[in-house]
Amino acid sequence: MIDTTWWQRAVIYQIYPRSFQDSNGDGVGDLRGITRRLRHLVDLGVDAVWLSPIFTSPMEDFGYDVADYCGIDPLFGSMQDFDELLETAHGYGLKVLLDLVPNHTSSEHPWFIESRSSRGSAKRDWYIWRDPAPHGGPPNNWLSEFGGSAWAFDKESGQYYYHAFLTSQPDLNWRNPDVRAAIHDVMRFWLRKRVDGFRIDVLWHLIKDDQFRDNPVNRGFREGQPPHWQVLPLHTTDQPEVHDVVAGFRRVANEFEDRLLIGEIYLPPKRLVAYYGKDLEGVQLPFNFGLLETRWHARELARLIDEYEEALPSGSWPNWVLGNHDRPRIATRVGIAQARVAAMLLLTLRGTPTIYYGDEIGLTNADIPPELLCDPLGKSVPFLGRDGARGPMPWDASLYGGFSNTAPWCVCPYDEGSPNVADQQESAASMLALYRRLIEARRQHPALAIGSYQPLVATGDVLLFKRSHEGSASIMVALNLGAQPAAAVLHGSLGVGKVVVSAFGDRMGEMVKEEVDLRPSEGLVIELSEQSPRAS
Ligand code: GLC
Repeated sequence: MIDTTWWQRAVIYQIYPRSFQDSNGDGVGDLRGITRRLRHLVDLGVDAVWLSPIFTSPMEDFGYDVADYCGIDPLFGSMQDFDELLETAHGYGLKVLLDLVPNHTSSEHPWFIESRSSRGSAKRDWYIWRDPAPHGGPPNNWLSEFGGSAWAFDKESGQYYYHAFLTSQPDLNWRNPDVRAAIHDVMRFWLRKRVDGFRIDVLWHLIKDDQFRDNPVNRGFREGQPPHWQVLPLHTTDQPEVHDVVAGFRRVANEFEDRLLIGEIYLPPKRLVAYYGKDLEGVQLPFNFGLLETRWHARELARLIDEYEEALPSGSWPNWVLGNHDRPRIATRVGIAQARVAAMLLLTLRGTPTIYYGDEIGLTNADIPPELLCDPLGKSVPFLGRDGARGPMPWDASLYGGFSNTAPWCVCPYDEGSPNVADQQESAASMLALYRRLIEARRQHPALAIGSYQPLVATGDVLLFKRSHEGSASIMVALNLGAQPAAAVLHGSLGVGKVVVSAFGDRMGEMVKEEVDLRPSEGLVIELSEQSPRAS
């Protein structure tokens, strides 16, 4: 029997706090609102909640610009509200993960204010300051992910500072040991409060080339791609020394019992898995965003899964993500019919899944008129705008969806008939019911929660794979990724099976043999009567 810890069996749920539940009538979600809605998570069956940043912030990047790592922004409530949230969550058996943003602070953080105050300031080296290039202008060609040069000129001191994102998000200098110590203390502050871990923002960005060499020009760049792709981030991300920093985070987490670190890292599998660290002393879960980046096609998904599974270092634990606050919602990307298949894939693959709030009711991106856009990225590069995926959670069919009693912070007018939690509670055929059944199935079947993965078929639109765990029933997952009926052949000796989860909620208990018919966009989770032999 594999010895598993809580986060290996867990299903994680991401909350974007501004948009989950408003409790004080200002149109912005807050901590008390989240506490009030925790029952929804318990009913859904998830195990852990990750909260996007709730810290003191001028909110230029909606909390990813932190001005005090140990303070709660008044928009979200108080420290007491946070303590109540944590206690209530723990009372329900839910773990709570916070968002640690160590790559950069807000330009309003006292550290930056001090650093900027003069070239001789004691904190000057806490950020990345450089002289202009010999003939003037920025020190090199590094680009910001939010558009334009990544260097901002500070007139007072005549130097530039580096910012991988907004000019109001200066990057910390992670080569400086005092910076490391200060952020480690931030971690300890929350871990002592019994927070269960962190999702760490842009982990692969933390260290930059110490010689500040120009990034190479990307010859494959095409119009319509994010502008910062014009150069390849060879010297700005994924530097070898970053792994030292990651191991440092892990050492701090290990000072406490059973805490989890998840890293936000957008890299292909082979480079991603390096963040598990040497001897697995990095983060326990480097976020695997493969499903966000791969075309929705059976063979391509099968290839992604194989590539990822193959890249995993021995003893490491996989994970899968279908959506987050930076990417279009899954129901918008693949359509509402395929969003069910996607849910089935997320929750039946091997590894810890993370659900993005609202996806469990099949929420699509909100249509937001240009004059109401808030996201700084969307303002500078409209086709990358993220507001649509950050709309208020629709709890019921009332005017503001039960989210607030006033117009929400970004007016996201859901159409009439768009999904809401209350309606879906009532229906056995709803997306919400499907999510619940899938999570419940993970709990009931060790093969799904912790079993091995075996690819079987990826032909046409059909994706078929098997999950097995010694001593318990094996599970077959059959997914139709197309809009036409399809048949999944259960290949030879797999025996007879019983449907335990069906995409439309209407085939549960059905016995299947050799061949299973799948309706368009249908998926089935099938319990096989054969048991995996116990290892002797
Ligand atoms: C991460 C966050 C994103 C934010 C960026 C800069 O990618 O997920 O929302 O804008 O970091 O902090």
